[in-house]
This record gives sequence, structure tokens and C-alpha cells, in this order.
Amino acid sequence: MNGFPRVVRTVTELRQFVQSSRAQGKTIGLVPTMGALHHGHLSLISEISKHVDLPIVSIFVNPTQFGEGEDFETYPREEEADLEKLADTGTALVYAPDAHEMYPPGDITTVSVGGITDRFEGAARPGHFDGVATVVSKLLLQCLPDAAIFGEKDYQQLAVIRQFVRDLAVPVDILGGPIIREADGLAASSRNAYLSETGRKVAGQLNVILAGLVAEIVAGGSIEQAEQTATNALLVAGFNTVDYVAVVDPATLEPITVVNRSARVLTVARIDGVRLLDNMAINVPR
Ligand code: PAF
Repeated sequence: MNGFPRVVRTVTELRQFVQSSRAQGKTIGLVPTMGALHHGHLSLISEISKHVDLPIVSIFVNPTQFGEGEDFETYPREEEADLEKLADTGTALVYAPDAHEMYPPGDITTVSVGGITDRFEGAARPGHFDGVATVVSKLLLQCLPDAAIFGEKDYQQLAVIRQFVRDLAVPVDILGGPIIREADGLAASSRNAYLSETGRKVAGQLNVILAGLVAEIVAGGSIEQAEQTATNALLVAGFNTVDYVAVVDPATLEPITVVNRSARVLTVARIDGVRLLDNMAINVPR
């Protein structure tokens, strides 16, 4: 077990670590995860290490952000393998509470963010963002880090977290980590493991088609036309359904019809019963 980070499972131990590190003048970063770590997560650790002295990784498969019929029961739980992956990453501590520690008996408080959660993943997965906002609030308050980082792959999640951190004046810097992609450009995700061999090949087209949409808009094409072209291309590529391809304001996630300077395209397409999320920045030169 050499090089493996220390694991704590209680808020008390977590706070003791944070307090004694602070007393030594160290700054703390939190990398919240649900485990099943891949190189996307490891990149978040190296990214936050540029900003803080001690990165803490939390591992908790949060039941409240899974809807009925979703993959909570089957979501990969592989703590031993996760700890192996964290060895020699500079992770100062792993916080891996159980559900009882996170949601003690009698726990009834939730955090709910309006507006920005109405569309896209919020509409497709009712209650999902309440679960995310609640557990991330708990994690931030349990740890009290200087900074926390979330992947841009879940772009709406990052926007929701930025919103409640601002609204509740939580004293933490929220950082976004760039999307990490496989060799064919597929965004790294723990759920990619659910794909069949054929599905995995189709999945590799998602980013290619999105990049096509970005190029079309940057070249002056209409947003509506580009969204339609991309949707058709996804179906032709073999995706079973396309939940949405939407060009939005990068901060409010409101759909837009004209890109003035910057925008974001968000998409979800399904293959093999897996909802694959991706998104890209659109920067139009003025
Ligand atoms: O992105 C995730 O892995 C989860 O939604 C998070 C932020 C760890 C909350 O459970």
C-alpha cells in the first residue's frame, strides 16, 4: 500500500486534517468524485494542484442525484482500484464517507437551484441537480476548502454549482477542469465502460460532429441550421436518439439564436442505452 493516500470516513477526521494543515499554512483543494476514477479525474487533481498545496479527493456515490431506474445500484464502486490510481498523484487525503455520514438520520435539508436547472439534464433527470447541489454543499461545508474543481464535461453541473456557491456566498473558488478526451476524442466518463464495442465506435463520432457544428457557426452559419445538421449527423452515425443539441449562453445556459462572442454547445445522445454528454466552446472572432 506504499504511496496510497490516507483514507478518512468521517467529517470529524476530515476537519482535523484540514485544520491541522491550515495551521501549517497549507491551502486545501477539494476534488469531489463518485469514484470509478479515470484520467479525467486525475487531470482535475493536477489542475487543482496548481492552485492549492493539498488536494483532497472525495469518493461518494451520492444516492440523491440518481433518479428512479437510473444506475445507482450498478454504478461502479471500486475503491481499492481508485486508491491505486491515486497513489503518487499528490492526493493528500481521500474522504470516503458512507451514506449514513453524509445523510445522518433525520437529515431533511436540501439545496435546490432554480432556473438554470429547468432545461437539459435538469429536465431529463428530475431531482438530479437538487441531489448534486445538496451533496456538493455538504462536501464544501464538511471540508471548507479554499478551492474545489469540477470537470467541464458536466457543463450544466458546473454552472449550477457556480450559481449556488455565488448565491449562498460560500467562501470557495470554483474551478472548471477542461474535458479530457480519449484518442478518438470521446469525452472521458465512468459510464463509457457500459458501451459495447460497436457502441464505443459510434460514441467516438459525438465530438467530431460537435466540432463540425462549432466550425459551421464560427464560419457564420445559422445556429438553428447547425443544430439540425448535427442532430441528423448523429442519427446517421448510429446514435439511437439525440436528446438535445443546443447552443447556449455559456453562463446562464439560456438558448441563443445569435453568437456575439462566445457560446457553448451542449449535447446528449444515446447509444446502447447510455446517455453520452459532451459540450464545446464556441468562440466567434469579432
Ligand atoms: O460529477 C460527479 O461526479 C458528481 O456529480 C459530484 C460532483 C461528485 C457530486 O456527487
